[in-house]
Amino acid sequence: MRHATAKFYDRAPAVVESFEQAVISGLSASPKSIPCRYLYDAAGSTLFDKICELPEYYPTRTETRILDDNAAEIAALIGPRAQIVELGSGSSDKIRVLLELLVSPKTYVPIDISAEHLQSAAETVARAHPSIPVAAVCADYTSNFDLPQVLEDGYDKRVAFFPGSTIGNMTNSEAVAFLERVRHLCGPRSDLLIGADLQKEPSLLNAAYNDSQGITAEFTLNVLHRINRELDGDIDVSRFVHDAGYVPERGRMEIFLRSEVDQLIHAAGRGFRVRSGERIHIEYSYKYTIDGFRDLVASAGYTPVHYWVDAQQLFSVHYLRVAA
Ligand code: AVJ
Repeated sequence: MRHATAKFYDRAPAVVESFEQAVISGLSASPKSIPCRYLYDAAGSTLFDKICELPEYYPTRTETRILDDNAAEIAALIGPRAQIVELGSGSSDKIRVLLELLVSPKTYVPIDISAEHLQSAAETVARAHPSIPVAAVCADYTSNFDLPQVLEDGYDKRVAFFPGSTIGNMTNSEAVAFLERVRHLCGPRSDLLIGADLQKEPSLLNAAYNDSQGITAEFTLNVLHRINRELDGDIDVSRFVHDAGYVPERGRMEIFLRSEVDQLIHAAGRGFRVRSGERIHIEYSYKYTIDGFRDLVASAGYTPVHYWVDAQQLFSVHYLRVAA
């Protein structure tokens, strides 16, 4: 019996910016902030999975539906003997239907910072698609790293896959810098398949980030619990509230934790004064128009090939190519 196994490459950074440093500098600054990447510890990741199931949170299921409904067309654009490089692959859920339809794919390369999650997802894909070599790379895709040399050839086309509208957590200049890095990572003859959430009626957006079960609030507030757990904090989490609102002029959701009282909180051996009504910035989630997104990717050297939206035009998936 043949056992399909995934290869594993460790490209994790030796020194990661620590949660401790981020919290100390973020809470010392004015205005205060904590980077949204720290929302995803084990508890936060479980809460995010719950968010994806919420009736109000349309992005995940809408993107999956767009990818599945158009998988044959996407596979045709990708063509035979492709290498698929997924940035932040998590549980590798969104690539599965596409992998089935690709013609003689050369390699699936899931990239994720969480080694355990990556390894189990890679093994699952390898078992489900025994004919497709899986080469998992543990790396921080938001920083500079190189793909293993063995992955540099043996394919007709390389396609970067970046679903989830994770690009929306970046400001426009951050997004351009990120996409330029992806372009350099994947080379001059590569394509990019990327999800981008669309601008829409503010009430729909506000509902998606203020769900009636309060799961999104728990998700945001979890970062304070994480500070208490990991940095010996004494924060009374009940004195903060989740504050998320769509700002149409900026085309983005702005997500904060707002203090309900004047308070002194401690973490990492330091004290931080927080005023009543003061907000700690946690996350932006940018929403795009089709043209606005195309302008953004053009600044990073990508040219549009095709895009797909759902019937309600909630979400978009773009197929792009490195500009000649
Ligand atoms: C993971 C960036 C796609 O911005 O919608 C969901 C994160 N934050 N609810 C998003 C998130 C609050 C999410 N992304």
